[in-house]
Amino acid sequence: MRLEQKQAIVTGGAGGIGRATAKALAAEGAAVAVVDLNGDAAEAVAAEIRDAGFTAIAIQADVSSESDIERVVATAVDEFGGVNVVFNNAGIIRRTTAVETTVEEWDRVFGVNVRSIFLMCKHVVPVMAAAGGGSIVNTGSGWGLKGGGQAISYCASKGAVVNMTRALAIDHGPQGIRVNSVNPGDVNTGMLRDEASQLGQDADAFLAEAADRPLRRMGEPREIASAVVWLASDESSYVTGSALVVDGGGIA
Ligand code: NAI
Repeated sequence: MRLEQKQAIVTGGAGGIGRATAKALAAEGAAVAVVDLNGDAAEAVAAEIRDAGFTAIAIQADVSSESDIERVVATAVDEFGGVNVVFNNAGIIRRTTAVETTVEEWDRVFGVNVRSIFLMCKHVVPVMAAAGGGSIVNTGSGWGLKGGGQAISYCASKGAVVNMTRALAIDHGPQGIRVNSVNPGDVNTGMLRDEASQLGQDADAFLAEAADRPLRRMGEPREIASAVVWLASDESSYVTGSALVVDGGGIA
């Protein structure tokens, strides 16, 4: 049990990577708040964790809303007595070029992928600092480290996630707070099928192309979860400001 005495918030906790990570954090002993726009799905994940004998609550929230984020942090503190692990993982993608992207879509992608992390840190860092520190993990992407086609708002937003992670690590390291990004590449979740449908492509062909990387397969959500558990745990105690790539060698 590498995360005993830890209290965690996981955003996008009802989705592929979030659900696997919420379960993995709980199995290592953390109490987990599963946060998602889809409240019923978040509750199903929390129930699954409790049924396995671990501790979890569900909180419906839009991570781009400051009042929702304030409520998430306050609820986790009330229920668990503190927060020392946050996985900022909720994210959306729009597969469009600059010409095709509407201003509303651009703002929504940045609201969910970037503003959310600023808001969470604004409200959770004081809680962590008062308790002596913590670990924040932000979900970037291979496309935060290199470019990709027909995904201008997503690539820009994930580049922002990777670099704001470094800035957060610099500002809050002295308070004992570590901040790292985990950067997945082509993990088998609903997001990939959503991309295929946005691009009007056949889902099976899209997934086969996603497997074209050195390890010759897509990633599974639990493989991202393992990296997040390590970054959340004291085993990574000297790691901060890093961008950990978990992508089967895709951007290598
Ligand atoms: P997913 O679509 O399965 O999960 C995303 C979750 O975020 C969903 O449960 C959704 O309801 C939730 N969500 C969306 N907007 C929200 C909002 N405003 N407030 C709260 N929750 C919201 O996708 P997946 O793959 O699990 O994605 C998780 C993260 O991983 C995202 O940040 C994504 O960009 C990133 N990622 C995924 C990759 C992949 O290949 N699946 C590759 C690289 C990065």
